Amino acid sequence: MSIRMIDVHKAFGPKEVLKGFSLEIEDGKTTTVIGGSGSGKSVALKHIVALLRPDEGDVWVDEDNVSRLDQESVYRLRRNVGYVFQFAALFDSMTIAENVGLGLRRMDDFPSDAIPERVTECLRLVDLDGYQDRLPAQLSGGQKKRAGLARAIATKPKYILYDEPTTGLDPVTTAVIDELIIRMSEELGVTGVVISHDMKSAFRISDRVAMLYDGVIRAEGTPDEIQGSDDPIVRGFIEGRPELMGGSET
Ligand SMILES: Nc1ncnc2c1ncn2[C@@H]1O[C@H](COP(=O)(O)OP(=O)(O)OP(=O)(O)O)[C@@H](O)[C@H]1O
Ligand SMILES: [Mg+2]
Repeated sequence: MSIRMIDVHKAFGPKEVLKGFSLEIEDGKTTTVIGGSGSGKSVALKHIVALLRPDEGDVWVDEDNVSRLDQESVYRLRRNVGYVFQFAALFDSMTIAENVGLGLRRMDDFPSDAIPERVTECLRLVDLDGYQDRLPAQLSGGQKKRAGLARAIATKPKYILYDEPTTGLDPVTTAVIDELIIRMSEELGVTGVVISHDMKSAFRISDRVAMLYDGVIRAEGTPDEIQGSDDPIVRGFIEGRPELMGGSET
């Protein structure tokens, strides 16, 4: 049981973004994908929940070949895979409580009178209890991000995909979110896939780190292995030294 992306190719018009992307996400672990802006990290993540379909290659989530699922099965899959979108993606016309409770309302086996309590519990985890009745427009960028996180964890999914959960947050809030990701993994056994630009938190929260470069996974290993890599592309990226990488970054 795991998430496996095997030799995935994805192009938008003439632009090839993924050129044979392969990555196995081990169950129970937190894997962080790093890589330059525009390198295709969000594109890769969207394949896991069938928001994008590969041109070639396969994406497996447990027993499901995601690219072959019909719409009904995609909904079932998404109940198992929480997604924290890079730009929060809250529904503007719904309150924060309604946004966070969205997945719960769609679950046949979750009693509707238990929803407010679960919503409050999730908002408390991201330090937003009391914001239930606000609209997204009344929240700051960082608060919206945390509301998106609360929504992703509300259904207690087996997998959670976090697309830059801490970008744009202050250092203290970043540490709180990092701690939450670690707790989701350690206490609830959630398998996490994180996209991050923050090397410090990537190495702190991850069991595995994978670097996307030029459409493929260039390096994959434990935080120690990646930090000790002698690949100039990896070193240049994690140390913020483009001169090591030679040429343009993506
Ligand atoms: N739906 C789409 N249609 C056309 N092009 C797209 C689409 N989605 C992504 N792209 C292109 O694919 C490339 C990779 O985008 P992606 O969003 O995955 O980058 P990223 O690695 O997540 O970058 P960032 O760190 O800035 O979020 C970009 O060149 C982007 O313009
Ligand atoms: Mg992105």
